Amino acid sequence: MKTMQETEQHLQFRFPEGFWWGSATSATQIEGAAREGGKGLNIWDYWYEKEPHRFFDGVGPEITSDFYHRYKEDIQLMKETGHNSFRFSVSWSRLIPDGTGEVNEEAIRFYNDVINELLACDIEPFVNLYHFDMPLSLQQIGGWESREVIDAYARYAKICFELFGDRVKKWFTHNEPIVPVEGGYLYDFHYPNIVDFRRAVQVAYHTIVAHAKAIRVFRSCQIKDGKIGIILNLTPSYPRSQHPADVKAAHIADLFFNRSFLDPAVKGEYPKELVALLKEYGYLPTIEAGDLELIKENTIDILGINYYQPRRVKAKEHLPNPHAPFMPEWFFDYYAMPGRKMNPYRGWEIYEKGVYDILMNIKENYRNIECFISENGMGVEGEERFRDEAGMIHDDYRIEFIREHLKWVHQAIQEGANVKGYHLWTFMDNWSWTNAYKNRYGLVSVNLDKNRERTIKKSGYWFKIVAQNNGF
Ligand code: NOJ
Repeated sequence: MKTMQETEQHLQFRFPEGFWWGSATSATQIEGAAREGGKGLNIWDYWYEKEPHRFFDGVGPEITSDFYHRYKEDIQLMKETGHNSFRFSVSWSRLIPDGTGEVNEEAIRFYNDVINELLACDIEPFVNLYHFDMPLSLQQIGGWESREVIDAYARYAKICFELFGDRVKKWFTHNEPIVPVEGGYLYDFHYPNIVDFRRAVQVAYHTIVAHAKAIRVFRSCQIKDGKIGIILNLTPSYPRSQHPADVKAAHIADLFFNRSFLDPAVKGEYPKELVALLKEYGYLPTIEAGDLELIKENTIDILGINYYQPRRVKAKEHLPNPHAPFMPEWFFDYYAMPGRKMNPYRGWEIYEKGVYDILMNIKENYRNIECFISENGMGVEGEERFRDEAGMIHDDYRIEFIREHLKWVHQAIQEGANVKGYHLWTFMDNWSWTNAYKNRYGLVSVNLDKNRERTIKKSGYWFKIVAQNNGF
């Protein structure tokens, strides 16, 4: 057998020195202890209480992967799977139980312990603020539709920077901010289950105003060596054909779902065509004096890119019904490209080159801003069936998935893209919103039938070698 050193010399895909290898998580998905440690309720706790049947197998967010109690053991496993960096989020309703008032001392202790433990293990903490988890009391006054919530968010951000900024140097304002817009205000898969394009636009807009305010606060905190960014799920939109109508359809999907956040975050302004489109149909949001200057002045240092699958679109075959509610899909239809490669265990398309296309777009059109892959991963339903007698899950499909995406990341770097790392979704199997534990994504399995016992999967051992060698 070759020693590690020997393998290193023969690397075909070597990544830049100091490349960030790790994974991403979020508070609601891993912590559990939803009603412990002084935490206030958030929209997930509340929605589950109201409508448990909306969640796969009726499993809610109370315990999830129990990171709150087992973070020490978990951080050891991060080490054992080669992490040099790790993203988690600070639960707003744990830190500030009612969203605006007193700061919860137990939460400060918990996050301090997590950060200190990570640092003691040479794992750099990457902290995200908002990951779909609005405190209930703030949702009750309108959530992201309310200007008051923007100010409450800026305060929460400031408290986090002040408490943890001495040790945390990579900060992110939001994770996939388009998702609460789609889930909560367009397609009914998040609370508050509203389907209303006008309100969706306002929510999206306020999210960006909140983001820019948090950046302004961050700059005023002068965190030494600190960087701040946002994490976006950039989904490349590919037209069915080069017919101008299909190309236009793909372009409009890109405007709505990618550029509505990417442009203000990196360039400080909305794409003119998006503004014109919203204006033409009478859907511009309410904008307050000073907002656009705020957005202009507070752009990001670093971009996190989540990529899972592309969007395949074609021109609309029937003109939109003027009486139907307005939806982005007024302008395009989805289509299933024949022959595309699918994840057999989840039904999502696998298109590895998509990650390269995103990175080259960022290089060419977004000032080659410092970026990293902040999520990429493969969800598998029924993964227990791949567990052997010794308890290990043989997830060769996940190894292949990661490897093939990494090859394209490597290619983009060769061509000059400013990519600093790769984080997998995710470290250990976790609670995925209404899908609960249906699809498993972890490098480490969490056995729900065995007191949430953790076992490193085959992919976890593989990932460690890749991280150690800084390539493969
Ligand atoms: C993106 C989100 O950030 C995360 O919360 C979710 O669970 C994964 N994708 C998997 O769908």
